Amino acid sequence: MIPSVLAAPAPGWTTETDVVVIGSGIAGLVTALRCRPHGRVLLVTKALLDAGSTRWAQGGIAAALAPDDSPGEHLADTLTAGVGLCDEDAVRALVTEGPGAVRGLIDLGAAFDRASGGGIALTREGGHHRRRIAHAGGDATGAEISRALLAALKDSGVEVIEHALVLDLLRDAAGRATGITLHVMGEGQPGGVGAVRARAVVLATGGLGQVFSATTNPEVSTGDGVALALRAGAAVTDLEFVQFHPTVLWLGEGATGQQPLISEAVRGEGAHLVDHTGARFMSGRHELAELAPRDVVAKGIMNRMRETGASHMLLDGRHLGATMWENRFPTILAACRHHGIDPVTEPIPIVPAAHYASGGVRTDLYGRTSVPGLYACGEVACTGVHGANRLASNSLLEGLVFAGRIATALSADLTALVSDEPSMGDSSDASPVGGARADGLLAPSTRGDVQRIMTSSVGVLRGAEGLAAAARELADLPIRSGADVRPGVEAWEATNLHTVASAIVAAAQRREETRGSHWREDFPERADAMWRGHLVTRLDGNTLTTTYEPWRQSRREGDRG
Ligand code: SIN
Repeated sequence: MIPSVLAAPAPGWTTETDVVVIGSGIAGLVTALRCRPHGRVLLVTKALLDAGSTRWAQGGIAAALAPDDSPGEHLADTLTAGVGLCDEDAVRALVTEGPGAVRGLIDLGAAFDRASGGGIALTREGGHHRRRIAHAGGDATGAEISRALLAALKDSGVEVIEHALVLDLLRDAAGRATGITLHVMGEGQPGGVGAVRARAVVLATGGLGQVFSATTNPEVSTGDGVALALRAGAAVTDLEFVQFHPTVLWLGEGATGQQPLISEAVRGEGAHLVDHTGARFMSGRHELAELAPRDVVAKGIMNRMRETGASHMLLDGRHLGATMWENRFPTILAACRHHGIDPVTEPIPIVPAAHYASGGVRTDLYGRTSVPGLYACGEVACTGVHGANRLASNSLLEGLVFAGRIATALSADLTALVSDEPSMGDSSDASPVGGARADGLLAPSTRGDVQRIMTSSVGVLRGAEGLAAAARELADLPIRSGADVRPGVEAWEATNLHTVASAIVAAAQRREETRGSHWREDFPERADAMWRGHLVTRLDGNTLTTTYEPWRQSRREGDRG
């Protein structure tokens, strides 16, 4: 059973704004800043402003900035990585607006690393045929972007509520979004369950990596936005395409929680993947070897692990030298040394781990979802740019470009959305917040169960039997939890994780082929005739339904669901 609303106490307070943005990564911050000229903006975020995934981003932000590069070449690499499922118009918007958007970040104060000639230093990552990844602080790109955006936020007039877990969407009788319910913890701000009434709601809640035991995602990435969108009746798509980053520091069997990332940029600067005999196993598997698209490299590593019976592979960057490690990769060097590995003198043990949701809440080219008044941006969204496998360093760019597009849309949409004032507590509010019914609410302890199930059966390598077992176990969890779970942050998060995990499994079971980051042992080939299309998931009552839609070259503006 998947709840259609989270059990929660009735809102004890209400506030109003024009646009409520949920999330404070690059997508949320840019949306808030860019929407501010059009009205009042309230940004709510689950923990502290800089606690999300953006600040962990290492490699950089991809854009055709070099004289020998072009948006057309960036487009071609993105489409190749997406294995036939990208929306070409969305990718075109990304790559053509990308360079200007990155320059806009620089104007705002983001300090990207410079080459000796003074231009922006650019590196390569997997799937890119050109050097087009701009970086900052060596390998601390997200932290620098976050710093610059938070500085800009200070005097912007955007209101902020931290430590706020979004619960559900408020809707009017016509089904339009009219605000959110949320739970706030912390001093100096309204506490407990409250409601924000707004003309537009923007989901920028980030990823869902915490459905797996080991992930590069921080603790807060529990898929809250996707779960809320499903409960609100929105279309969610491509969820089976969870990307596993090939090179995550191996901390031993059974390591759980957020794991240290070893950026693809390390391979971009020349590090090699080797097995325990020192052999470079990616040579001969792909023309780009270690710099093949991410899904190809993750599969290469997993295959070599199986062939050799090893628990992990190695990333050898000794030949990069101490100066390169210290100047270019200070964050990674410190993380490795913290765990007793010195990349200057020894290869780094690595293994793939859950990293990024290529799918999410389906949007049009301006971030509009299938629910009027609800927008989505960043990792929570599926704008169509990633297809079956995101190209490295396109994620910060997507958040940046599509946040600007949402602001453009809202400059017009807000006028239309203004005519019908939402009113909390009206019988027209379709989201039944309040009441003690805990149907479908999961006990906090089930978080670990969800992670165990997903890791053992729905990881890099999938098969019908494991997926069916995962579906059965996930279906049992609400029954095992019982009906007397007390509403609270941990129970709401566990419930969101369960909802999202169930949706991923449903899509992964249905897609009987191998494509991008969805790898089926029992269907090892890509099958365009049957499967060149999207799986669209919705919540129907308390049941998830997944429908197949053939791929179209363009999703077109206004085509959201
Ligand atoms: C990395 O630095 O390898 C991660 C970049 C990304 O996920 O795009």
